[in-house]
Amino acid sequence: PRVAVVFGGRSSEHAISCVTAGSVLAAIDRAKYDVLPLGITQDGRWALVADAAERLAIGPSGDLPDVEGIAEPGGSVVLAADPTQREITVVAQGEVAKLLGEVDVVFPLLHGPYGEDGTIQGLLELAGVPYVGSGVLASAVSMDKEYMKRVFEGFGLPVGPYVTIRPRDWERDPQTSRDAVAALGFPVFVKPARAGSSMGITKVHRIEDLDAAVEEARTHDPKVIVEGMLRGREIECGVLEFEDGPRASLPAEIRVGGGHEFYDFAAKYLPDNGTELDVPAKLTGAETGEAQRLAVAAFEALSCEGLARVDFFLLEDGSYVINEVNTMPGFTPVSMYPQMWKATGVDYPALVDRLVQAALG
Ligand code: DAL
Ligand code: MG
Repeated sequence: PRVAVVFGGRSSEHAISCVTAGSVLAAIDRAKYDVLPLGITQDGRWALVADAAERLAIGPSGDLPDVEGIAEPGGSVVLAADPTQREITVVAQGEVAKLLGEVDVVFPLLHGPYGEDGTIQGLLELAGVPYVGSGVLASAVSMDKEYMKRVFEGFGLPVGPYVTIRPRDWERDPQTSRDAVAALGFPVFVKPARAGSSMGITKVHRIEDLDAAVEEARTHDPKVIVEGMLRGREIECGVLEFEDGPRASLPAEIRVGGGHEFYDFAAKYLPDNGTELDVPAKLTGAETGEAQRLAVAAFEALSCEGLARVDFFLLEDGSYVINEVNTMPGFTPVSMYPQMWKATGVDYPALVDRLVQAALG
């Protein structure tokens, strides 16, 4: 079968998507699959790119990869959307068009808006092309930290305290939002409602610093969510769909060090960041079982498909709070999702194969 591996994209997680794709391109079984790497540039142009996993990594000094740098010259743009011109040009010529017409399955290795949020899933549904992972609704709801929490609340799943600041709330009456945030108690985390990899997130200790943090988050998304600080251990759990339904991996724990105030972008991805990952987490049998139960329940509540990573806080009283779900979790060499499955007995190539096979049906 021919697999189109789509990566990069318009979101602020472009570079992380490239790193994820680099790992998948290196691991996918070339004897079994004919692989077509397709990049989406930061400005939304689709391009056939070099099949060069080694160029899709974070450099030793922390420099980030980009699709633009590996796009093949000349005639490689297959679909260009220019939002400023309100113009969509389809330039599906020659070899590229032929290749795309013969794709059996798409692996949308995109993180964040315009990729992990149901948009590309909708395009693929329209085109009738099978793809790896969650569908339109699960992707869209899971990308939006407000609606994700509202779904969990509706299903009786545990979420932490939060305040949503919608564009009109902030533009018309910011004081009401400030008061609601103050009622959460400080510190708080100010986040774009729809982003990932900790982009645009600020930990705010005093009300005086709130406005700047909201404005920073609004550069990523006009809707902002403010979460009360949860004191506890950061636990994550992978969910993977098997023939008989979704199963949870062994949970893992993130311990942030190195002077990072929280699990921010640098603590996640940059070299020598002081972050320690315990895979699996040192938990009691009951704590492990409860994380796994909640991870599958969260996956089912959101109607996820294929895969997801569910992130928790394990509070001091022994209870869990669900922080969020990622429907296309990072697959970089330092990412938790593949490490948790490896610890559970599914190694990286087997994981990629299972995901593609599930999509092929
Ligand atoms: N959003 C990043 C890629 C993750 O959750 O792993
Ligand atoms: Mg996330």
